Amino acid sequence: MTGEFEIIEHLAAERTLSAEELSVLLKTENADALEKLRSLAAETAQRIYGNEVYIRGLIEFTNYCKNDCYYCGIRRSNGEAQRYRLTEEQILECCKEGYGLGFRTFVLQGGEDPYFTDARICGLVAAIKAKYPDCALTLSIGEKPRESYQAYFDAGADRYLLRHETADELHYGRLHPPEMSFSNRMRCLRDLKDIGYQTGCGFMVGSPYQTTETLHADLMFIKELKPEMVGIGPFIPQKDTPFGEKAAGTLEMTLRLLSIIRLMHPHVLLPATTALGTIHPKGRERGILAGANVVMPNLSPVNVREKYKLYDNKICTGDEAAECRFCMQRRMESIGYQVVTARGDYKG
Ligand code: 5AD
Ligand code: FES
Repeated sequence: MTGEFEIIEHLAAERTLSAEELSVLLKTENADALEKLRSLAAETAQRIYGNEVYIRGLIEFTNYCKNDCYYCGIRRSNGEAQRYRLTEEQILECCKEGYGLGFRTFVLQGGEDPYFTDARICGLVAAIKAKYPDCALTLSIGEKPRESYQAYFDAGADRYLLRHETADELHYGRLHPPEMSFSNRMRCLRDLKDIGYQTGCGFMVGSPYQTTETLHADLMFIKELKPEMVGIGPFIPQKDTPFGEKAAGTLEMTLRLLSIIRLMHPHVLLPATTALGTIHPKGRERGILAGANVVMPNLSPVNVREKYKLYDNKICTGDEAAECRFCMQRRMESIGYQVVTARGDYKG
């Protein structure tokens, strides 16, 4: 069996690793090896992005969802979720506030809400891009037909986030109800890339039934798709879902995977997610120090924050956009990084 240090050097040099090597890196308790993995990943991010951290203003504009993913707190079967949707006016107000705070990327994220027809999404995209032509607009609204993705792109959307959730078809089937399909998820991601979006995939760390093999499949899938962004964060149970009693993913595992993904894809845009900040008070800082280079503070109105609960104990639900913005700035400065006012495009 090859030692941890050789595996890390091989990963840094060749940007790949076998399932067996991944297993060693995920299981090792060799602190020196783990520090080497972390520091190489952080140096790799710094070589490309310096000490700059990109900020994205996240607008959670609807928590209605027609899907029923077993892990998610806004799944349609969760009768405890209080549903809301923001009006176009409210969404534009979030952008206005965000622009003033220095955000140059807005992320419109929501459940798969049939109220937001393609015409409404296109209208929203066009309105935001007309007012803020110097900003990038990211959509994160789930699985759609190719024609819809094309229409949003033509209306001005620049980027699209759709986590693949798992690259193992059987595992996918254990996380989702039978009416959802792995092949459609894959079709969506390939269409997004093909249309020309800066595309983000990703998965939860420690999702129920995840194994080293499924994680290895995730890494190989990312290699093949070549996304511009990869979103990973720990799975955190939400009490009113079928996975309410399952164990959460860990900080440690998420940090290792962030570092591995950075070493495999030096240029990728990699967020230190809110979920990571939720399982540990310094989770986002630790994520940046492990090779992440993006944070996504919340711009949603405070009165709806509490309702967009994909998982329990989500942080920042009581904080105004400005508070989160400056809190994030302080947090990043505390570890020697700088949040920047920039669109923060992929430097590949
Ligand atoms: N814990 C952590 N992340 C979750 N997501 C959904 N539910 C949870 C949960 N319970 C993630 C999914 C989805 C993204 C928007 O949030 O990966 O793609
Ligand atoms: Fe929201 Fe700190 S980032 S309060």
